[in-house]
Amino acid sequence: MRGTIVTKDIAAASAALQSGEVIGMPTETVYGLAAVIDSHEALTRIFDIKKRPRNNPLILHISDVMQLDEVAASIPEAASALASAFWPGPLTLLLKKHPSVPGIITAGLETVAVRVPNHPVTIELLKAVGKPVAAPSANPFGSISPTEASHVHKYFNGQIPLILDGGSCAVGIESTIVGFENNIAVIHRHGTISEAQITAVCETTKVHSGGAKPVAPGMYPRHYAPKTPLIFSNDVSELLQKFSDRKVGLLYYGEKPAGIESCTVTCSLSKTSDLNEAAANLYTSLHRLDACWLDLIIVQKFPDDGVGRALNDKLKRANYGTIIT
Ligand code: TXA
Ligand code: MG
Repeated sequence: MRGTIVTKDIAAASAALQSGEVIGMPTETVYGLAAVIDSHEALTRIFDIKKRPRNNPLILHISDVMQLDEVAASIPEAASALASAFWPGPLTLLLKKHPSVPGIITAGLETVAVRVPNHPVTIELLKAVGKPVAAPSANPFGSISPTEASHVHKYFNGQIPLILDGGSCAVGIESTIVGFENNIAVIHRHGTISEAQITAVCETTKVHSGGAKPVAPGMYPRHYAPKTPLIFSNDVSELLQKFSDRKVGLLYYGEKPAGIESCTVTCSLSKTSDLNEAAANLYTSLHRLDACWLDLIIVQKFPDDGVGRALNDKLKRANYGTIIT
């Protein structure tokens, strides 16, 4: 295959999808690696290109809640309420699958993951395609998710024909994933739609306990990881002092921490301590620092609540297994 084209041409992206190609697709959360629901070959290629285990199911993207009946066999009341409250938006629902949804998408599970993305370019693309589109995040399995078309290009140049450029992702981290047990909402993956927001709509909410077998990819212990070792702490000044003889990149939030002068590169995720702004900047900043040949990336921990909880969860997985020699 020749080099991958980065384009804003929605018709070209739609034609490529319809002819059974895998393409890069923008959403408001992160970029996805997309294929139409009924191309077994393209769906298989998503797993191959990402080097993703086949037992890790894919999210379907639909243009409108009206399309939900095509992919879900039944919709609990709590799910309808959440869809009305948060779609289009960064919320994925796990629903009993419609018999027509291919097993490769659900990895043989009885449930299907589905969401309506909140990005005008994505919605226009989904409408042009006219059928549901499967898309996991467009990163090799385990690495940092892409929030710009250039990140997808860096990962998959030459492996896909086209990336539809929808600009920088406004949300910046993956959707919140919610399943249902007897009409009770169960949070499987934290995102910018917080537990408190879900509970405000559903009354009773549980957080999935995890367990040995991950049911969502964000539940793998190591994920979202840069190549550079990453550590995080409430007290970054202490870490900066400890590693003052190394080439350190710092990601911080709010006021400048003491000791910042010793860093080779620094990125402020939000000067006003706005967690949504920090989420929008997290992966983009990690991509930038990971390209700087640093010894270490130090990240300031977030308040462990709401969006901060989702961000800390990403940092924990990016740090898992890190050894600093
Ligand atoms: O924001 C997002 O959710 C982005 C954009 C592209 O929409 N997508 C995304 O996809 O993060 P991915 O594949 O990286 O993470 C979604 C995960 C699946 O990999 C899978 O583990 C989980 O959602 N999932 C999908 N179907 C599932 C199912 N039936 N039951 C449990 N988990 C499921
Ligand atoms: Mg992913």
